[in-house]
Amino acid sequence: MIDLRSDTVTKPTLEMREVMAQAEVGDDVFGEDPTVNQLQEHVAKLLGKEAGLFVPSGSMANQISIKAHTQPGDEIVCERGAHLYNYECGGPSFLSGVQVMPLEGKYGVITAEQIEPTIRPNNVHHPKTRLICLENTHNRGGGAIFPIDEIGKIQPLADQHGLRMHLDGARLWNASIATGIPLHEYAQYFDSVSVCFSKGLGAPVGSMITGTADFIRTAHRYRKLFGGGMRQAGVLAAAALHAVENHFNRLKEDHKHARLLAEAIDQIPGLDVDLNAVHTNIIFINIDPSLWNAGDLVDRLKQKNVLVLAESAQRIRVVTHLGITKAHMKEAIQIFKSVVS
Ligand SMILES: Cc1ncc(COP(=O)(O)O)c(C=O)c1O
Repeated sequence: MIDLRSDTVTKPTLEMREVMAQAEVGDDVFGEDPTVNQLQEHVAKLLGKEAGLFVPSGSMANQISIKAHTQPGDEIVCERGAHLYNYECGGPSFLSGVQVMPLEGKYGVITAEQIEPTIRPNNVHHPKTRLICLENTHNRGGGAIFPIDEIGKIQPLADQHGLRMHLDGARLWNASIATGIPLHEYAQYFDSVSVCFSKGLGAPVGSMITGTADFIRTAHRYRKLFGGGMRQAGVLAAAALHAVENHFNRLKEDHKHARLLAEAIDQIPGLDVDLNAVHTNIIFINIDPSLWNAGDLVDRLKQKNVLVLAESAQRIRVVTHLGITKAHMKEAIQIFKSVVS
């Protein structure tokens, strides 16, 4: 099978399993797991933040961050396609009691100009705008990179209005590799940044929240409340450390493969790719309705051992990752051609 559904389908490599087996561990709820502590310090440093907190998932990282930044009744601003708004089970309202102001973006990017008029005036009738959440790269935006210049315009606006900034950086690794902009340069604009080890980096489990030591103390309490306190989590932290050290730079391979596939698919009559949106490892393919719908194409590709995801009625998603080689890409392109012809 050539599994292109997501970069979350990767399996730990042999080397990764070896470092996991040898990891030094302790009880992380007591703060005594040396490998978790090492990972937290290392990633916080990479992001230029005081502290980090290892959590089981990207969703938990986002939802703990929202909880730690807000009070019930507050409002948070994000892009309409944001993961934390669409794919985390209504977490902001369920877990934090906040409402969401979603803004229509382009490739997941919203601008300071768009955000400014949505910030609520101080009036007894309104919720308090409290937090701006951005996503980089943007999953539903097709893996698009949020331009750092625009982030640089949004942050002073947040400052001016006393708002906090959170970055869902599940794939910030990809943005950094694609642009050459170091992680800490992106992170400097945000009060909290979450990153995932279980996407392109290929670890089996785990994400991290980074921020000030004070913020992380608050987040630590909510991690326990949300059931995310883990014990001998060093076996997982070891995989994450290995992933950061060995699989970060290779993300450029995934980006090359995605571009190769996107350009070839765009040539196939009936299929269309917005090549301007292909910045990293995610590709959305639009299907001419006179050909098939997304479900049909998914089924036909599956019969030929290629797995992709139906994203909407006429759109499928393809994601490149650690388990996909150039040879897989070439084979997948041939299969797309044969299925569609
Ligand atoms: C941008 C983004 N944020 C957060 C998440 C959530 O991560 P998890 O599946 O680990 O909860 C995902 C998952 O794909 C994602 O794409």
